[in-house]
Amino acid sequence: MRMEGNLGLELLRATEAAALRSGRWMGRGDKNGCDQAAVEAMRFAMQSVPMKGTVVIGEGTKDEAPMLYIGEQVGTGEGAEVDIAVDPVEGTTLLAEGMHGAISVIAAAEKGTLYNWEGLAYMDKLVVGSGARGAIDIEAPVAVNIRSVARSLGKEIADITVVVLDRPRHKDLIRQIRATGARIKLIFHGDVSAGVMTSIDEAPADILMGIGGAPEAVITACAIRCTGGEIQCKVWPRNDEEQHLIQEKGIDVSQVYFTEDLVKTNKVFFAATGITPGEFLEGVEYIKGGARSHSVVMRAESGTVRYMTAKHNWEKLMRISELSYDKGPLSHVTPQL
Ligand code: FBP
Repeated sequence: MRMEGNLGLELLRATEAAALRSGRWMGRGDKNGCDQAAVEAMRFAMQSVPMKGTVVIGEGTKDEAPMLYIGEQVGTGEGAEVDIAVDPVEGTTLLAEGMHGAISVIAAAEKGTLYNWEGLAYMDKLVVGSGARGAIDIEAPVAVNIRSVARSLGKEIADITVVVLDRPRHKDLIRQIRATGARIKLIFHGDVSAGVMTSIDEAPADILMGIGGAPEAVITACAIRCTGGEIQCKVWPRNDEEQHLIQEKGIDVSQVYFTEDLVKTNKVFFAATGITPGEFLEGVEYIKGGARSHSVVMRAESGTVRYMTAKHNWEKLMRISELSYDKGPLSHVTPQL
């Protein structure tokens, strides 16, 4: 298979489209509205991407999701055959509540190389940037990992920042991290950004620890493949039903999934655009006559990480686009002042 050029640059237009459209829903308290706006725009923009893509991580099964469902074919149908993982809004609650850190994200990898997450909702994750690659072991105690990462990064433990999703299930994890003397950054949502942030220049965090979404683990792994960091995961059944599913599928709960198990190729691309302002990416700024978006595109083979700021001009864009970006969700309503 040949994968010429940088597919990530094409996919970026789809994350931009999703961010521009869904950003209009910021703070409206409507998660479905956020999601629908992003999904429509992302799907529309992907139609013109030169690839034979199959969604392997998407909005759900065909019965659950009208668009970007698992198995849906995306792209022009010409070009490289690729697995596509999408999260049109990663952090839907953050966007709906007008909070920091919502992003739109797509990853693409050579066909058949993204881990099939088998319908399991959660994974226990441990993620670090390239400076601490080889220093982690998800089966080792929390303190051992923190000490080892600190040594690799040439830092004191007190200088290490660990990001954890703020969830009751992490009570003991947080206690263990605190006992080491490391700093903790609790986040409400969005562990893709948090995981990838361990890998960027002047990283605002050193380690991501804890249980989060399984699809998000695979998407994070795509970025980590590009940055040279490391992710390790284990499946985390949340109830009897999932425990049963695991047994049925013959999945070994003790198996550790490494970066290369989650993404079995180096032919992988990652694109993300900020929706609400965040530490990883700035959010969409709606300006006079248009908007500014902030994105990142990564390619594992070359290791290139590009940050891109785009200025969008509504007047021109609306002449060629079938989707409206220039109007908000209540544009049809006359304001009662
Ligand atoms: P959504 O964008 O699908 O709402 O996911 C947000 C998120 O916070 C992920 O970043 C994270 O992996 C997962 O949800 C955690 O799940 P939960 O909120 O159930 O603990």
